[in-house]
Amino acid sequence: MKIAIMGFGTVGSGAYETAKNAGGIDIVRILARHGRPGYEHLDDIITPNIDDIANDPEIELVIESIGGVHPAREYVLACLRAGKHVVTPNKNLISACYKELMDEAAANGVKLRFTSAVGGGIPWLFNLLRTKRCDEIEEVRGIVNGTCNYILDAMYDKGADFGEMLKIAQELGYAEADPSSDIEGTDTLRKTVVTTNLAFDTVVSEDEVPCCGIDTIQSCDVAYLKEKGLVCKLMMKAKRSGDSFEVYVEPTAFPAGSLEANVKVNNNLITLTARDIGTQSFYGQGAGMMPTGQSVIQDVLDIRDGKEQAIEAGSSALKADNSKAVHRYYIRHDRMCEHIEPFIDIYEEKDGIYYCISKPVAVEEMHKMGHHRKEKGKEMFFAALAE
Ligand code: HSE
Repeated sequence: MKIAIMGFGTVGSGAYETAKNAGGIDIVRILARHGRPGYEHLDDIITPNIDDIANDPEIELVIESIGGVHPAREYVLACLRAGKHVVTPNKNLISACYKELMDEAAANGVKLRFTSAVGGGIPWLFNLLRTKRCDEIEEVRGIVNGTCNYILDAMYDKGADFGEMLKIAQELGYAEADPSSDIEGTDTLRKTVVTTNLAFDTVVSEDEVPCCGIDTIQSCDVAYLKEKGLVCKLMMKAKRSGDSFEVYVEPTAFPAGSLEANVKVNNNLITLTARDIGTQSFYGQGAGMMPTGQSVIQDVLDIRDGKEQAIEAGSSALKADNSKAVHRYYIRHDRMCEHIEPFIDIYEEKDGIYYCISKPVAVEEMHKMGHHRKEKGKEMFFAALAE
């Protein structure tokens, strides 16, 4: 099969390397502004012009690994309209344009696959779709951002500093180009949208998902929770309830013996619960050149070999509704005021800092409070207490 790769960064080159092992895949064009060091032998097939790919009738499939929404969306649309299958690991694109791209692929009789958009090298979305063929998904949840897990794990294990660990995660290539999307939870939010849409055959948008990250966590939070036998992780969760589902992203404190608490370094742990099969968890490298590159090529091989993964974008009537999502939270803040006091059940004050356990609080209410305090520049961190 003759294919092209658009974007030749970490994932694009990982896909190239994996394709060599897989065999039967002929990479005939690479869209990039310039060559990549170490890949000078590919200079002849590099082009900066999308038309060289979209208008080439020999190219049957295109890998989009440019990242971001624009121009990736426009290039993917051009390829789908030209009758080419598309494979992409781009969570930003699939989160923002899922329905539009799926509809365009269907209208042109081609496939759009994005197994690698969540969980990198872990066959997560692949198995989520397989489970759905004969079961009903009740819940999906997990740790899907390696950068945040790397930082939180080092803070817990070694008492490391947040800023230093973020810098190392950037150097190791785990973090996004703009790492605020890792630590503020946006990367996890996009992966949540992609996962939820597949789990529940819905089309949820990013602004329907309450999202708080770990950017305000401090060493004192990690130490306080550790003393209580708890470990903080950044979690996504989507849970079916009647004709709706709750869905959100937030820091969550887990008992030290739980699976989630023991996810080390930059690994991901993603779990589904289905009506008949019960609970299954998937663990491994959620990012990186070869893990993600391999997932991309698995999609290419499945399309080449005619292995269907049925996706019905937006075919269900299930809607996002967080009105019944309520839990107790750990909250740390620097001033007891009339906004926070009604939330609090028990608290300890040490050196002018309040360490609190809340009463049951609505998720939306808690997130609103967190964002409000942040906008005002006030110190605050919260983490849900895992049920
Ligand atoms: N920045 C992401 C992470 C990369 O840390 O998980 C993989 O999507």
